Amino acid sequence: MALLQIRNLHVALEDGTEIVKGVDLAIDQNEIHAIMGPNGSGKSTLAYALMGHPAYEITEGEILFDGDNLVEMEADERAQRGLFLAFQYPHAIPGVTVTSFLRSAINSVRKARAGEEDPVPIPEFRRELLAAMERLQIPRELAQRYLNDGFSGGEKKRVEILQMAMLKPKIAVLDETDSGLDIDALRIVAGGVREFVGPELGALVITHYQRILNYIEPDFVHVFVGGRIVEAGGPELAHKLEAEGYQAFGVGEEKEAA
Ligand SMILES: Nc1ncnc2c1ncn2[C@@H]1O[C@H](COP(=O)(O)OP(=O)(O)O)[C@@H](O)[C@H]1O
Ligand SMILES: [Mg+2]
Repeated sequence: MALLQIRNLHVALEDGTEIVKGVDLAIDQNEIHAIMGPNGSGKSTLAYALMGHPAYEITEGEILFDGDNLVEMEADERAQRGLFLAFQYPHAIPGVTVTSFLRSAINSVRKARAGEEDPVPIPEFRRELLAAMERLQIPRELAQRYLNDGFSGGEKKRVEILQMAMLKPKIAVLDETDSGLDIDALRIVAGGVREFVGPELGALVITHYQRILNYIEPDFVHVFVGGRIVEAGGPELAHKLEAEGYQAFGVGEEKEAA
């Protein structure tokens, strides 16, 4: 059985509007899945619901992680289990540096796993941080700045992947990590993701554009329209989308351009 199993998932907004309308998906470590869909189709809603954002209510279905139902768990517990979300719009945390944010996030995961305080030794933390920053070509000075405070779009996205690299989740959900990146930044970010995915990590790459999938060859592609997966296949499906757009899946050009 796959590590992450999403079964008949329905998600509604606080006003009761149903956005995600029955999604089935199974993701394992060492696999890259892509969800591709037009704007407004509910991709971010799905990502937030997986992570336990309180504004998104799961009205039906289940999310199993290693056999346990995540639906009743808080976001921090889901993270401690090994689920990670890189946000489409990362929030700034003025007053908290990238370094201290990462260290406390790592320590809270370590504490949950060990059942007691088990802080990462500083030299080990520093070594891993510098190595990951180098791989992602993040300037050193960024580590001492407040998280996402005044960061450019590209810096925010790189720091999301840096968090993933440092937290070592088992399944990472990357919501439009490609948006707003120029081609060089895209290459670095995509290369980072590809490098980290392996026996310990599986990824769900959510995107509007086919572009990033030229750098991260997904094993599975799911076309997401109107809150549902309408077609699933291998990497060839991404190329079909590139050639034909979402119209082939019943989405009008107008909506696609929104
Ligand atoms: N917090 C929210 N409040 C109100 N509407 C929301 C909220 N989150 C999502 N929506 C609405 O749900 C629909 C799907 O949005 P979203 O999940 O962001 O789609 P996508 O990520 O595919 O572009 C949109 O109509 C959006 O306006
Ligand atoms: Mg979105």
